[in-house]
Amino acid sequence: MPTTHPPLPLAPSEGRLLVLTPGMGAVATTFIAGVEAVRRGRAAPIGSLTQMQTIRVGERSKNKNPLIKALLPLAPLDDLVFAGWDVFPDSAYEAARRAEVLQPEDLEPHKEFLHGIRPMKAAFDGNYVRRLDGPNVKSENSKRALAESLRQDIRDAIAAAKATRAVMIWCGSTEIYLTPAPCHASIEAFEKGLDRDDPGIAPSQLYAYAAIMEGVPYGNGAPNLSADNPALEELARARGVPLAGKDFKTGQTLMKTVLAPGFKARMLGLDGWFSTNILGNRDGEILEDPDSFRAKEVTKSGVLDAILQPELYPELYGKLYHKVRINYYPPRGDAKEGWDAIDIRGWLGYKMQIKVDFLCRDSILAAPIVLDLALFLDMAKRAGYSGVQEWLSFYFKCPHTESGHVPEHDLFIQHLRLKNTLRVIAGEEPVTHLAEGFEV
Ligand SMILES: NC(=O)c1ccc[n+]([C@@H]2O[C@H](COP(=O)([O-])OP(=O)(O)OC[C@H]3O[C@@H](n4cnc5c(N)ncnc54)[C@H](O)[C@@H]3O)[C@@H](O)[C@H]2O)c1
Repeated sequence: MPTTHPPLPLAPSEGRLLVLTPGMGAVATTFIAGVEAVRRGRAAPIGSLTQMQTIRVGERSKNKNPLIKALLPLAPLDDLVFAGWDVFPDSAYEAARRAEVLQPEDLEPHKEFLHGIRPMKAAFDGNYVRRLDGPNVKSENSKRALAESLRQDIRDAIAAAKATRAVMIWCGSTEIYLTPAPCHASIEAFEKGLDRDDPGIAPSQLYAYAAIMEGVPYGNGAPNLSADNPALEELARARGVPLAGKDFKTGQTLMKTVLAPGFKARMLGLDGWFSTNILGNRDGEILEDPDSFRAKEVTKSGVLDAILQPELYPELYGKLYHKVRINYYPPRGDAKEGWDAIDIRGWLGYKMQIKVDFLCRDSILAAPIVLDLALFLDMAKRAGYSGVQEWLSFYFKCPHTESGHVPEHDLFIQHLRLKNTLRVIAGEEPVTHLAEGFEV
């Protein structure tokens, strides 16, 4: 079923928007501390389209290029408030210190603010994230009771923050690889699964279910299925709730979706792409577990095939060997290093090589994505959109699509679609580059 189209005009952003993050680790705390730093004029929101990007409206000759946040009624940063859940009881300040993404001098000015954000007890099950164990977990021992407890948390957190509404972005650890089970086939099956503690229902799905039931848009920053199944999609459409996922597109995959469309546009062949990473944060430790890595491997591996379309270009891409590795290496902490050895082929089949060595900071790239998703998903709900928001594919390694749709991985096509959707929401014409005669 297609995503609902928005009834214009769009409802304004009124009052506080609560951003809920299941998982208050490296990404979530870098996001929260960053928003506070920007609000206090201590830093620029680099990497965020909602804060920094302009959008052309009307013919190019009119030269009308407002900021996205000026064109659309996004929630202003000053209206954002934060809450979350974690299996560790550390405040956002303690968690940010432990994550070691931001320097102490960037955290100290916000110490009091960050100390005030303490995680609620997590709906956690060590069978789904094996290398993790912490004390701040709920005692309810059935999936139904856990889901109800999360729903109550959402209501309580909205009331405590005096917020008018909320949005949830999963920033929790990567769960083990699971494929859709019979309990995901419909919302009735899912409800029954909750009642009988079906092992197919992972904790992230309890959060997604609770969010949708409370009318809270849900974005998934990890590769686990969460809301990517017919049951929760159906529920989201019925409740008028937008969804987006999966797995924030940062580091190596971001580079892949920049480079691969370039090779394809120039009809250069590709024989091999070997990607390896070393990282030493908790995410890296969890990805040492083969079942969690499998979830990541699946989201990372689909990207090239979808961009290169080997079925259309067997001579260029039919024999591509694509390998992805993640190695846990504690000395690096969050400062990941990703190497890509790329074997390409040009005119007359002559071989060439490209090496990319990306000394990347994953959470620095992920934090603005959390911000943009929170603001866009909130606006999408006010615009009357519900179900899967494919126009937000730009932010994800493995875009959640409506069933039957082919995900788009090319960053530039994703960007065009995102901006055209924003134009449509604003009541402007989409840009096709065709309506303006000789202008390209
Ligand atoms: N860092 C990036 O750039 C990046 C990019 C893409 C995807 N991701 C994904 O985003 C997620 C967060 O990454 P991170 O670097 O912040 O990891 P992290 O390990 O620092 O933080 C994750 C937090 O989630 C908590 N958690 C786990 N299960 C939970 C549950 N059921 N309920 C509540 N809390 C739970 C953990 O205790 C931990 O504190 C991971 O799944 C990661 O794969 C991160």
